[in-house]
Amino acid sequence: MASGSRAHFSSRLGFILAAAGSAVGLGNIWGFPTQAASNGGAVFLFVYLIMVFALAYPLLVAELTIGRYGNANPIKSLRAVWPQQRGIATLMGIAGMIAVSMILSFYAIVAGWLFGFLVGPVLDAIGMTQAAEWLESFSASRNLVLMIGFMLLTILVVRNGVANGIERWSTRLMPLLLVLFVVMVGYILTQPGAMDGLKMFLVPDPSHFSPKLVVSAMGQAFFSLSLGVCSMMVYGSYIQKDVNLPKTAAQVALLDTAVAFIAGLLILPAMFVAQHNGVEIYSESGALLSSDTLVFSVLPAMFETMGGAGLFIGVLFFVLMVIAALTSSISMLEVPVSCATEELKQDRKVAVWWIGGLITLFSALIVFNFGELFGLVISLTTEYAQPILGMMFALLVGWVWKRDKVLQEIREGYPELEQGLFWKIWPWYVRVVCPILMLMVFFA
Ligand code: ALA
Repeated sequence: MASGSRAHFSSRLGFILAAAGSAVGLGNIWGFPTQAASNGGAVFLFVYLIMVFALAYPLLVAELTIGRYGNANPIKSLRAVWPQQRGIATLMGIAGMIAVSMILSFYAIVAGWLFGFLVGPVLDAIGMTQAAEWLESFSASRNLVLMIGFMLLTILVVRNGVANGIERWSTRLMPLLLVLFVVMVGYILTQPGAMDGLKMFLVPDPSHFSPKLVVSAMGQAFFSLSLGVCSMMVYGSYIQKDVNLPKTAAQVALLDTAVAFIAGLLILPAMFVAQHNGVEIYSESGALLSSDTLVFSVLPAMFETMGGAGLFIGVLFFVLMVIAALTSSISMLEVPVSCATEELKQDRKVAVWWIGGLITLFSALIVFNFGELFGLVISLTTEYAQPILGMMFALLVGWVWKRDKVLQEIREGYPELEQGLFWKIWPWYVRVVCPILMLMVFFA
């Protein structure tokens, strides 16, 4: 399991599941469907798919490669790639660390809501209606308590370290989540109103297209694949050398996109079913009402239509979602923690508490200033910090890092690299095409 003094994922599958665990989370089930529903459905889906494969996938390979080469925390890995400019490399690592901590601070609030909708219906069923109502209605006190609960869980898992904590959590439950999704999609599509949602999700209406939509789709792709914030770089540092990075990255991107797609197949039809049953979804002007909490009004409404089975399926669904969110949040907290343990030589148990504590405090600040800060922090981190930092990592790989070193690193797990199409395209693609594409998106 360990090679040298660092822990590594014990197998290729262990890594794929851990990286997929980092990728699959609230971004897929909450972020993607909410964005798709706010941005015209199918048009958003198509732009999103382009963003994932034309921009995010090549950058995912770049980030994983830097991490594995460095075999260390992101600051050290970036310095290993750019030893001539240690100061700038360090700053890039610190920027990633700050961005990922800010993402975790809003992520923990939304993940806390999952707890609320997990426990609420059970309490309701045993007659504790007041407590159930508190858990399921929006309030600062509820958001705070549940957020702290989720942060504590994240801290406890990261405290145990990568091989013990992360891999174990990620390996078993993903298939179950997928099966449950498929069952839920099958159910919702039989309900009245569902076809309107399906149509919105799959049949493009070009009038919804806008430059803002493209920026949102790019941000969503980066958020969903945990890019630009060093999470994948840290995970890259825990991969063994015999892993084929381009292939593994493709598998992770495909799995993540498949889950987002299935979530869209579930949530958009469920929205229209809920609307058919009297839940207000869109305002008179056609704007989505309370988009942040949309998923949390639509899904419980769906479980209610399922009768007795709804309680069981709802609880199972939210349990699996808490775990999916947890496998993402641990990949975020691991970034600053790995820096503190290796750069500041701190004990992991100490680092995890003070860093987790600071993030919890920042998250509390968002809870008490929800209207002003929640959307702002999401937009700053996912639409700006993630793509811009992701592009900087790509520029580093494309322009700064010696081509033969990149080749050597990827070839370790892919000996026939030079004969394949990947090596003919990818180096100049990250060097030239990715930065141009991203600049085009920003200046559009
Ligand atoms: N990539 C993580 C998610 O999609 C943050 O939830």
